[in-house]
Amino acid sequence: MLLIEVNRELGFVPDEALREIARVSGTSLADVLGVATFYSFLSLEPRGTHIIRLCDTIICSMKGAPDILSAIEEELGIRAGQTTKDGRITLETTSCLGLCDQSPAMLIDDVPRSRLTAEGAREIVRGLMQGGGA
Ligand code: FES
Repeated sequence: MLLIEVNRELGFVPDEALREIARVSGTSLADVLGVATFYSFLSLEPRGTHIIRLCDTIICSMKGAPDILSAIEEELGIRAGQTTKDGRITLETTSCLGLCDQSPAMLIDDVPRSRLTAEGAREIVRGLMQGGGA
């Protein structure tokens, strides 16, 4: 829970926080680091204000996720795993979001978007770039 709170507050978990969490919880730094690196929703590096997580697992992949990823990458001018130069948007791929029945799917921050098309994803990203929400 401490890792989640720090990640939510800062957008990532810095080294100092890892050490402090290990100290206050009486856990080794290695164990804290193990948890922090296991969960993809926790980051040890600064990320954008908004995070787009596109599912790249089998169902979404079969229903067009690779084309959607290309469209989003083109729209943002970055590749998966990168953050826009203005620091506003990070693009990531992720494993199954549990929305297989509505695939292809992605999360923008904590908001699910599903039944995506490449053009629909472009419109969503344009809205986000223009200051809109998820
Ligand atoms: S495979 Fe994409 S949401 Fe399950």
